[in-house]
Amino acid sequence: MELSKAQVLAWLTACQNTFEAQQGFLTELDTAIGDADHGLNMQRGFSKVAEKLPTVAEKDIGMIFKTVGMTLLSSVGGASGPLFGTLFMKMATPAVGKEQLSYGEFVLCLKEGVNGIVARGKAELGDKTMCDVWLPVVAELEKQESFQAGLSAALATAQTSLEGTIPLQAKKGRASYLGERSIGHQDAGATSAMLMIQALHQVVNHG
Ligand SMILES: Nc1ncnc2c1ncn2[C@@H]1O[C@H](COP(=O)(O)OP(=O)(O)OP(=O)(O)O)[C@@H](O)[C@H]1O
Ligand SMILES: [Mg+2]
Repeated sequence: MELSKAQVLAWLTACQNTFEAQQGFLTELDTAIGDADHGLNMQRGFSKVAEKLPTVAEKDIGMIFKTVGMTLLSSVGGASGPLFGTLFMKMATPAVGKEQLSYGEFVLCLKEGVNGIVARGKAELGDKTMCDVWLPVVAELEKQESFQAGLSAALATAQTSLEGTIPLQAKKGRASYLGERSIGHQDAGATSAMLMIQALHQVVNHG
């Protein structure tokens, strides 16, 4: 199976619904070790994305990802706006001119996107950031060969990796200012990364 443009659009709409529903929870997580804005950041970012989607629905997937990236970059402040914005800007390059993505093409898009987050934020595995979900997810996707198996495995990896952020001490972002007091809390941005994989899994396997 390939990922159709309709499924890409359904994924982005599912992200909007998820961030609407999880805004309070994400804010709670970012209250414990941050500045309590992550829920609002993601909700606002993806509601702006949803407003833009009808204007690019006829364009190719590369243009859709680029528009999502630019919308997140311009509408979301803080650390996460530029990072999730970069994710989609970089995902766009391998998707230029495509009306659908093969599994290999999709994995390449996400890998490029996550490489972009790492290049921009300089976080390493274990720094208690969204990269602690994104990096293992890309590694898992690369081991698989189809959307259905790949996203099921990637979602399981995302959930385990997310729980794995709880005992970590933050080394990047505002949470790092807390030093050892950041230990014992789940990272907010890593939670958003897992929710985005969950939304895609839902679209591919049940959508
Ligand atoms: N350098 C980084 N690389 C990757 N992810 C990061 C980095 N810095 C912060 N993050 C992620 O961003 C999330 C916080 O996003 P938020 O929307 O709250 O922006 P923020 O309040 O400006 O961020 P922060 O307080 O972490 O600087 C964190 O939970 C973490 O996952
Ligand atoms: Mg914050």
